[in-house]
Amino acid sequence: MFDRNAAIAIPSMPVCGLTGGVGSHGLECVGMPLQPSVTDFHSVGAEPDPLLGRVINDRYKIVEQIGHGGMGRVYKALQAPLDRLVALKVLGAGHDRDPNFYKRFFLEASVTAKLTHPNTITLYDYGRTEDGIFFIAMEYLNGRTLSGAMQQDGPLAQERVIHIAQQICRSLREAHALGIIHRDLKPANVMLLRQHDDHDFVKVLDFGLVKFFHGENPEGDITNAGTFMGSPHYIAPEQARNQSPDQRCDIYSTGVLLYHMLTGKVPFTAAAPVDIILKHLHEAPVPPRQLRPDHIAEELNDVVLKCMAKSREERFQSELGAAALCAGYLAEPASD
Ligand SMILES: Nc1ncnc2c1ncn2[C@@H]1O[C@H](COP(=O)(O)OP(=O)(O)OP(=O)(O)O)[C@@H](O)[C@H]1O
Ligand SMILES: [Mg+2]
Repeated sequence: MFDRNAAIAIPSMPVCGLTGGVGSHGLECVGMPLQPSVTDFHSVGAEPDPLLGRVINDRYKIVEQIGHGGMGRVYKALQAPLDRLVALKVLGAGHDRDPNFYKRFFLEASVTAKLTHPNTITLYDYGRTEDGIFFIAMEYLNGRTLSGAMQQDGPLAQERVIHIAQQICRSLREAHALGIIHRDLKPANVMLLRQHDDHDFVKVLDFGLVKFFHGENPEGDITNAGTFMGSPHYIAPEQARNQSPDQRCDIYSTGVLLYHMLTGKVPFTAAAPVDIILKHLHEAPVPPRQLRPDHIAEELNDVVLKCMAKSREERFQSELGAAALCAGYLAEPASD
């Protein structure tokens, strides 16, 4: 089965042109002609990772690998002289083919560094080593990803879903107010931490980091836009068409996240990513309440479907609308 959390690099259609990035949980594909991608820099049965034990820029001693995604690997590292744990995202090889990538990397990392909301990961530092390794140092999170939580716990109770969704919306609210769009909201980019009596304290990761390689094509659709980085399971229709995205693409993805949490399923599946994307463009989702009628209230069902409207004009126009409705449903204030 195709891993819905994996980042996928789609350089061109038709499907036979697909290449696959490998996400944190691996990528198994049925009937998908995947080739190793330039972004897939981990090789099976390879030699020991030369970065383990290395000190990056005299500051970050790499302790162990935590995971990997479409852009590279994530390591646990110790920052000197503070002796604090950090997560270090090290970009994979292949980015040097596109000079625009670096420009975007530094620009977007600097923008992301402005986010300070408690539900958003804190970015500490970013840079490049003398031998050309690009890295981002961020808060180390001792928790599990939302994808891991859903795998372990199955569909989540609606009160829990609302609690998680509201925190995602609060994180988005700050970003959107600063003009930052996430563009790749998916369960692997949401972490749940235990904080005091809250077992589901949310941190949203990977805000606005470079998602496009080899240039964007604002006029074209994804079929000729170069390589798109992101998960096809959570992609908004306008992203698939490569129309310039605004905050409403994050609202669509939040709707898909809600759907997934409530039902344990993503709304659209197919063997090939291109077919998933086509469904986002053209197919109406089965209403979540139809899948779990006893567990999902009608109001919440409607919130999910409104977030997932194909036309962005028909969605909530801001994350506040979705959060407020969820909040109203639970009669709980959507405060910061
Ligand atoms: N700050 C962090 N603290 C702890 N673990 C992290 C942190 N950032 C990432 N991880 C872990 O590393 C894994 C890989 O993250 P990464 O962002 O590289 O991949 P991804 O989210 O699966 O795909 P993508 O490249 O599309 O974002 C995550 O799923 C998570 O388990
Ligand atoms: Mg990620």
